[in-house]
Amino acid sequence: MCGIVGYIGQNDTKELLLNGLEKLEYRGYDSAGIAMQNNNGMRLFKVKGRVKALRDRVDSSIHATMGIGHTRWATHGIPSEENAHPHQSASRRFTLVHNGVIENHQELKKEYLSDVTFNSETDTEVIVQLMERLCAQYQDTAEVFRQVVRLLKGSYAIGMMDAEDQETLYVAKNKSPLLVGIGNDFHVVASDAMATLNVTDQYLEILDQEIVLVNRNNVKIQKLDGTAVHRKPYTAELDAWDIEKGTYPHFMLKEIDEQPIVMRKIIKAYQNENNELKLDRNVREAIKACDRIYIIACGTSYHAGWTGKQVIEKLAAIPVEVHVASEFSYNMPLLSAKPLFVFISQSGETADSRAVLVKIKAMGYPALTITNVPGSTLSREADYTLHLYAGPEIAVASTKAYTAQIAVLAILAVDAAQAKGITLDFDPMQELAIAANAMEMLTDQKEAMEDLVVNHLEKARHAFFIGRSSDYYVCLEGALKLKEISYIQAEGFAGGELKHGTIALIEEGTPVIALATQANVNYAIRSNVQEVVARGANAMVISMKGLEQENDTFVLPHVHALLTPLVTVVPLQLLAYYAALHRGCDVDKPRNLAKSVTVE
Ligand code: F6R
Repeated sequence: MCGIVGYIGQNDTKELLLNGLEKLEYRGYDSAGIAMQNNNGMRLFKVKGRVKALRDRVDSSIHATMGIGHTRWATHGIPSEENAHPHQSASRRFTLVHNGVIENHQELKKEYLSDVTFNSETDTEVIVQLMERLCAQYQDTAEVFRQVVRLLKGSYAIGMMDAEDQETLYVAKNKSPLLVGIGNDFHVVASDAMATLNVTDQYLEILDQEIVLVNRNNVKIQKLDGTAVHRKPYTAELDAWDIEKGTYPHFMLKEIDEQPIVMRKIIKAYQNENNELKLDRNVREAIKACDRIYIIACGTSYHAGWTGKQVIEKLAAIPVEVHVASEFSYNMPLLSAKPLFVFISQSGETADSRAVLVKIKAMGYPALTITNVPGSTLSREADYTLHLYAGPEIAVASTKAYTAQIAVLAILAVDAAQAKGITLDFDPMQELAIAANAMEMLTDQKEAMEDLVVNHLEKARHAFFIGRSSDYYVCLEGALKLKEISYIQAEGFAGGELKHGTIALIEEGTPVIALATQANVNYAIRSNVQEVVARGANAMVISMKGLEQENDTFVLPHVHALLTPLVTVVPLQLLAYYAALHRGCDVDKPRNLAKSVTVE
């Protein structure tokens, strides 16, 4: 979490830093700050809250051609101006921004800095105070920086300025993402190319445990032992439209609407000109060689994993287990003889998932990452990657990445089935195309969803989602969407399970949203609906063409039974969106959250 941006060049840096931080707010938005250096010294501006507030605070008359900025998601220390970055050393010589967690900050404090008065509660301040403590011992700042970075344990992306040197941005990286962008007579530093795409599309990847000295005209990458590293830049393939809202009021709504297009992109990407599946052959071999798949993920990606399990087991007859990464990491189940690990992660940076990846790689097992960011940490560190082709997902609540994950898992299942010589009685790509069209029909019916919210959810304190079979897993996702952006307490339940306790919470008017899209449990889920209605619930039934009954609230277009989650989730995403909107919540940036969760 946290986003950092930096600039060194010929032009004024203010706007670039502020604009970059706005683009990085998806990484955290508890507080923000920038520091700029010119001949008059270092100027620092920090606020508790959003970049918008920082923009109002910054002195617009300052002109500086070098600066660093930070937007924070609090880990050590509450969101406050004191804990906001950049942090400065005691004499204010060194100014620094950091993304990550310094795991040994207490030990470093005790060993080197017991007499220093700290200005914040952050782990980060240790780094900048260490710079000052050690600077007398080495001949130049670059060497001090290297020695300090060598002392750090944990994750870090660091940008630092020295008040006595107007020529260098000091940069270091371990586990947290960081790129150096290259322009004409300037360089930028950013957690994500998205932050600085308006000034350059040329980037240098920085690997873990590397230090970079960034000047106006050159970039020196070194390993921690000082060995020089030579690396060629790559072109960031992001479209400016992908990272702008355009005419949409919120990124979330734009991303919900983009889902049919993403489905079509996935179909195109994973098919050759003869309409045959086109997947990395090594992935196919890895699937053929395994006796069990372990899906590891968090949050929405974890929910997509459950649908993946259904599809893989039903089409390819391979047993699949789905695990929450943070649990698996410290409480590993007994593994099969030949496991294949599949990591599902929109960002490819989630620390909980990465912790599992590191462990299972050390145990010698193969890993596949399914991600929206192919150059991400989880992608680089796994043996194989499947790309989601969803385009940047900026709203904190995941929508198009979820449906893209399901589509790619379905394609993986079909490929695995083919690899095992299993003949399918349907054309999976055609069914995906049908699902894409159905999604489009649903995104065109926003008014109906908004009406449902106004009538049933706007004033609700809590809500329940019930479904059976594949619908149950979509209920988990529907509940997560609703609670994370509208703050209505919501839970997803297996329809049959509610009566084993939770039904006690149903009272007059409690909203219960039931999904009824599975033929084999259509009768059973409707009985569950009757059970809650008998206890006063305000039930809404979302069914599917062919299975509908009189008085159903909403009937979805028919799609293949294994792909129903792709369409059932769309009305639930829209319900959550309109609930948040009508309750006056910040749809794209819900409280306490960040898009990329890079702490365990
Ligand atoms: C919820 C949401 C989160 C993420 C989770 C994992 O809308 O977005 O639950 O799904 O933090 O993130 P990734 O997929 O980036 O690993």
